[in-house]
Amino acid sequence: MLFFVRAPRARNSHASGRQEPVKELFGELADGTKVHRWSLENGGTRLKVLSYGGIVQSLELPDRRGRYAGISLGFDTLGAYETSSPYFGALIGRYGNRIAKGRFALDGEEHRLPVNDGGHNLHGGPEGFDRRVWDVEEFTSGSDVGLVLRRTSPDGEMGYPGTLTAKVTYTLTGQGDWRIDYEATTDRATVVNLTSHVYWNLAGEGAGSVHDHELMVAASRYTPVDAGLVPTGELADVTGTPFDFRTPKAVGADLRRAEPQLLHAKGIDHNLVLDKGPTGEPEHIATLREPVSGRTLRIATTEPGVQLYTGNFLDGTLVGPSGGAYRQGDAVCLETQHFPDSPNRPEFPSTVLRPGETYRSATVHSFTL
Ligand code: BGC
Repeated sequence: MLFFVRAPRARNSHASGRQEPVKELFGELADGTKVHRWSLENGGTRLKVLSYGGIVQSLELPDRRGRYAGISLGFDTLGAYETSSPYFGALIGRYGNRIAKGRFALDGEEHRLPVNDGGHNLHGGPEGFDRRVWDVEEFTSGSDVGLVLRRTSPDGEMGYPGTLTAKVTYTLTGQGDWRIDYEATTDRATVVNLTSHVYWNLAGEGAGSVHDHELMVAASRYTPVDAGLVPTGELADVTGTPFDFRTPKAVGADLRRAEPQLLHAKGIDHNLVLDKGPTGEPEHIATLREPVSGRTLRIATTEPGVQLYTGNFLDGTLVGPSGGAYRQGDAVCLETQHFPDSPNRPEFPSTVLRPGETYRSATVHSFTL
């Protein structure tokens, strides 16, 4: 009898080549609007994106043995996204995370935003970019394949001033990296903070808790929050706190420490202040690794912060495509961003965008084994 012993393989040795994007009808919203889904594949990574919310419905990757799994939380049906989604895989705008009391002043003018999170404005309000249908165009360029998503948000939408013209590019590279480039312009001074709200579980969605995933984040400070999860304004040292991920640590290692910051949020739901600061090009800031499958996600960004959210509010009531219920701690989000509530914190890096300027932000997700 013959035994074949297989040497460990680099991730891309079983990578399939680039496939032309496939577009199909995914469903209709309650008001009858049609929503399409694009399936992309390149460098071994498979991505499915909806025109609704720019949602990453699934991102599939092989493990060490070449077995594919969807590594982000999501739903099978459009109806579930429309009625029950806690921003699974969605584009977030106009402002990622919280603006305190849904108010801010700009150039002496007070703006009021609808509140949708305990008296605060969260992720752009109740009808944010995650709940809008985007114009989507596919492209191939060199070894890349991708989608350009466009949306013009009218002046005053969800209370935000200015007509905001947004363009988000999702690129799947020949190496299987998923890159997001955000751009926006305005016709009136406004605030912008765009991000992507993927819930990662590198063992596979539905595989249970991510508490054993190892995480590194290059951040020596974080923004402590009040009971409503709004930053107090302080930039606190992470040394000796549960927020210290400077050397790789299990995601769940410190979540049961009875510290007020964790109790406010039922875990970690905090902005980490990236040591590199805001940069013109994406720089590596975080690595998430799942030891059993070997799947490893590396994140690079131009942004000065990242919201580390340990899936605290998943409560076992939502069911994913694998047929399993999502419970607390079944995913981790790493939302690259400017700091929460920056419009009310002149000491934080500015989120103001003025006519004639272009907002630019980029985040790259690279996958290795
Ligand atoms: C917020 C959490 C919120 C989650 C899903 C995160 O970005 O910080 O507080 O529960 O998004 O809505």
